[in-house]
Amino acid sequence: MCGIVGILGKGPVAWPLVEALRRLEYRGYDSAGIATIEKGRIERVRAPGKLMHLSQKLTGLDLQGTAGIGHTRWATHGVPNETNAHPHIAGHVAIVHNGIIENYRDLKAELMAEGVVFETQTDTEAVAHLLSRELKAGAKPVDAVRHVLARLEGAFALAILFEGDGDMLIGARRGPPLAVGHGDGEMYLGSDAIALAPFTNKLTYLEDGDWAVLTRGGVTIYDASGAKVSRDISHTQASSMLVDKGNYRHFMAKEIAEQPEVIGHTLGDYVDFTQRKVRLEGLAFDWKQLDRLTITACGTAYLAGLAAKYWFEKLARLPVEVDVASEFRYREAPLPKNGLAIVISQSGETADTLAALRYCKSQGQHTAAVVNVPESTIARESDVVFRTFAGPEIGVASTKAFTCQLTVLICLAAAAGKARGFLNAKDEEELISALIETPRHIHEILRGEAHIKEIARKLSAARDVLYLGRGINFPVALEGALKLKEISYIHAEGYAAGELKHGPIALVDENMPVVVIAPRDALYDKTLSNMEEVAARGGQIVLMTDASGAQANEGRNFDVITVPKSHPLVSPLLYAIPIQLLAYHAAVFMGTDVDQPRNLAKSVTVE
Ligand code: G6P
Repeated sequence: MCGIVGILGKGPVAWPLVEALRRLEYRGYDSAGIATIEKGRIERVRAPGKLMHLSQKLTGLDLQGTAGIGHTRWATHGVPNETNAHPHIAGHVAIVHNGIIENYRDLKAELMAEGVVFETQTDTEAVAHLLSRELKAGAKPVDAVRHVLARLEGAFALAILFEGDGDMLIGARRGPPLAVGHGDGEMYLGSDAIALAPFTNKLTYLEDGDWAVLTRGGVTIYDASGAKVSRDISHTQASSMLVDKGNYRHFMAKEIAEQPEVIGHTLGDYVDFTQRKVRLEGLAFDWKQLDRLTITACGTAYLAGLAAKYWFEKLARLPVEVDVASEFRYREAPLPKNGLAIVISQSGETADTLAALRYCKSQGQHTAAVVNVPESTIARESDVVFRTFAGPEIGVASTKAFTCQLTVLICLAAAAGKARGFLNAKDEEELISALIETPRHIHEILRGEAHIKEIARKLSAARDVLYLGRGINFPVALEGALKLKEISYIHAEGYAAGELKHGPIALVDENMPVVVIAPRDALYDKTLSNMEEVAARGGQIVLMTDASGAQANEGRNFDVITVPKSHPLVSPLLYAIPIQLLAYHAAVFMGTDVDQPRNLAKSVTVE
């Protein structure tokens, strides 16, 4: 993970570096640091913890350097203290790094045998020493980088600053993304367009294996073989505005509340509101010809994929495999000739998901991406892009991106069902009508927030929480447990309700809250039986159901959250909301850092 940035500016760059890092904090917030060239010498300032600690340190300093690099860290090698914070310096070189140098132990041993003393526990420091060794041996910076890149294994994006040259920055990319920004007499390097948006909208995305030598006059790019190459300049749409929390206490609360609007916006792209039909354009494949669908993703996006399996199988009779990308990428799964691979990713940069996409491409699959960031690597490398219109999601725990992913996926499944002849016009109209009602229904759920908050207060006292769901609501149960544990640190498990008696029921006692997701659909009675098994053992039931389910349980000693009745297949879009609110308020009661929970990052660009 980690975010990196580099600037060759006309004026002092320390604060512009911090500004860019603020926009990259979603990639990690274990520590931050910058290095600038002050009167010909590298000056470095680093601080453990959030970026504000670095800002506080910089406030007392008067850095004037016009060339510099910066880093915000998600620790992979070495604890997140100041020593391990980037930039790392060796001799006349400072370096920031996103990714993992997999052969760093060998490189470190080699350098230590020559008497090099290592200060940090990081993999990155080995690269700094290798570069320094090259420079000491008389190599020019460009040649030093060329030689050192040839020695590195793993996935990385690097930005390198040279003490002797205030008009040079070198960036390199193998795996994680890196963009070159073109200014007016100024040049930039950054992990993404958002980081560079305050400075320029003219970007060159480096291709895998590329490395780039920047001066204020321009950039020279080399490919993996060392040949000079030319890469296009594109104009990014990324906004220079920093998203703020508005009147909300946390980004997560704001993003939960935005869901009616962003789901409506997303639906606008996939649905004809007047005809109540699904609308899809620019497909590079024919649903009718597909033999199988392979869906891969990570985290919450994976759970959206799991819901999609139910939809595609039911609506389009299309066999679906769903995998977490980190498992899929090394499994060498055989894929059919006429297969479609869909990857799902908010950021479009998740390393495992990208690797899964590349594997599917290498196996001759049609590829499609459901992504929120249209300029991301995954979007650029997929045959077709299905955008979610969630807008920037800042809270680490995904909320509105998830429900927008669900929105797109159910529309795709409906389109596939239609094209394959399994969804007739009447059923399509019924489904799309229900989807169109979703924003209104979510507003209704949000109006009941105070009640959900009271239930969350009880959850916050629990040590473990179980979430149960069946069928299309099983992925929602998994998402409920994931949300709760990632932001409140309360242990939670999501289970298919029918699996309860194969293990988790052993955990149930009077201290165990069990959240049951059970709209009154075809599986309601089955789920209710599973719930009764919990109630019989004293478990505290939180029942999420619709009005008729609530009525049927009147008088029971349960906490009930009532969700508007909708089409059975649409329920994940609705039940996701109380699930998010429960987790959010439990976390607030626990006093955790809701938007930036410990040990997590928004975008995981290492495997
Ligand atoms: C991290 C985030 C999750 C997200 C997952 C996949 O774990 O904390 O919220 O679901 O990565 O990210 P992506 O950007 O690929 O959707």
